[in-house]
Amino acid sequence: MTDPTTTPTAPGATAGAHAVEITGVDKIFDTRSGAVQALEGIDLTVAAGEFVSLIGPSGCGKSTLMRLVADLDEPSTGTVTVFGKSAKQARLDQDYGIAFQQAGLMPWRTVADNVALPLEVHGVASAARRDRVAHLLDMVGLTDFADRYPDQLSGGMQQRVAIARALAEQPRLLLMDEPFGALDEMTREKMQADLVRIAAETGAAVVFVTHSIPEAVFLSDRVVVMSPRPGRIREVVTMRLGADASGTSRAARTEGLREERAFFDMVTAVREALHGAPVGGARGVETR
Ligand SMILES: Nc1ncnc2c1ncn2[C@@H]1O[C@H](COP(=O)(O)OP(=O)(O)OP(=O)(O)O)[C@@H](O)[C@H]1O
Ligand SMILES: [Mg+2]
Repeated sequence: MTDPTTTPTAPGATAGAHAVEITGVDKIFDTRSGAVQALEGIDLTVAAGEFVSLIGPSGCGKSTLMRLVADLDEPSTGTVTVFGKSAKQARLDQDYGIAFQQAGLMPWRTVADNVALPLEVHGVASAARRDRVAHLLDMVGLTDFADRYPDQLSGGMQQRVAIARALAEQPRLLLMDEPFGALDEMTREKMQADLVRIAAETGAAVVFVTHSIPEAVFLSDRVVVMSPRPGRIREVVTMRLGADASGTSRAARTEGLREERAFFDMVTAVREALHGAPVGGARGVETR
């Protein structure tokens, strides 16, 4: 999808590198009650511009895997690279935007100032910053709340601020861990459509954790189905949603898709992949 001849290459990165490459990754946590193997034998490549969702029962290691990619933790074995760099270098270079389960906003900054933070860090001039923040707040429907503080917002609104902040610099990679979990159904569907559009427009790759099968199907090029204890990749389901069932571009993912036969077929395919787990293994996964 990305043409290596025209993609600007950051120092230390390989031209045309994959957005994320996870090879032979295990993660073992040493706890007082013994070792917990959270991940085992994870191999996963996310292409530049690709949208990949992770789905699986609670505790199967989705957040752990995201934290390894974001260099918030280290694998016990195996390697993680981001745009051909080490996860640490990619973090230092701020190659990606993050929106995780907790919104992680700065309580002493207004909504607008939270969204502006990454732009400030990178020395974007104040006029350009104001324009960009206004655009982002409009996109997440929070224009009227620009001057409020996070504790004056609902959980879902805080989550939308975090999403706007993650998108501030049009990153080539977005890491999103259940970013829409706290949203009502209507807002959630709107945010899904917006995210698909934004990712298509900016060519950003997205790694997205969700408990909702329809959400994963609507958003993704591929859905990675994980199984628990230890967390492994059970199956990778490629979404085929075009009229000719040969796949479709993300730009074509409009509201009508949710009513289409191909959409239901893909929901079924992902559900069946999940239910390959032992009885009860798919607990915590929404099918709505
Ligand atoms: N810092 C830690 N120390 C010890 N164990 C941990 C730590 N972080 C995660 N774990 C364990 O690793 C496993 C995977 O946890 P993780 O948070 O990645 O699951 P998850 O798939 O994101 O679940 P959920 O869907 O509930 O968010 C769990 O058994 C959890 O208890
Ligand atoms: Mg999690």
